[in-house]
Amino acid sequence: MFGFGRKKTPVRQLMSGLYDVHSHLLPGVDDGSPSAEVSLKLLESLEQMGVKGIYLTPHIMAGNYGGNNRISLSKRFETFVYNGPIKLKLAAEHLIDEKFLQHLQSDPLSLAEEYVLVEFTLGGFPSNTFDTLFEISMQGYTPLLAHPERYAFLQHRMRREEMLERLLAAGCKFQLNLLSLTGWHGQHAQELANELIKRNLYTFVGTDIHSFPHLKAIQTLSVNDRQAEAVEKLKENNRQLWK
Ligand SMILES: [Fe+2]
Repeated sequence: MFGFGRKKTPVRQLMSGLYDVHSHLLPGVDDGSPSAEVSLKLLESLEQMGVKGIYLTPHIMAGNYGGNNRISLSKRFETFVYNGPIKLKLAAEHLIDEKFLQHLQSDPLSLAEEYVLVEFTLGGFPSNTFDTLFEISMQGYTPLLAHPERYAFLQHRMRREEMLERLLAAGCKFQLNLLSLTGWHGQHAQELANELIKRNLYTFVGTDIHSFPHLKAIQTLSVNDRQAEAVEKLKENNRQLWK
């Protein structure tokens, strides 16, 4: 059985050498960092923990955040001045909604020209979601589902197997939120993250960092040694996205 080790590993230790695939540090464009000043402070702390690279992945969702799109976010990325050692890249976290296909068809902000980071609302998803995920593959990309452990439809055991099967059949890869392992996103997310780790279903790991409370959690919380071992393996996959 996949047991829980007794030894604890501080999350901040797992940040060392991390190439993060999910963050909200592009200032003033979504519910993440509100200003360049805040972003720079957060980046400075992440530098000190040994983070090597970060994909900035602002939300793109219909009717929110001023209609973020590839052009507006690229402009903001170009004007955000950061001179530290962390390598920054721009991508986006797309909500699967009625506008998503438009973004997909106009040169989407992807990770390494391959993965399109997508999310659902935590409560559920539109009925055509699986067709939409399949369309991502048809366009030559791979759908990367952000933090599957956080979705209620996967947390419910009754639906879990069917839903996992459908997501995997649609070509989805999964991205773990590091803090889910600590219970930060609640007990259900923590339990599901442990199960998905045990079943080897994650491909990448990200912080999804938005703010100082996330930073504090990263600086102070711990995971068990089995979780830490799994995260170290995912970090190797993350690194491939910077080549
Ligand atoms: Fe996010």
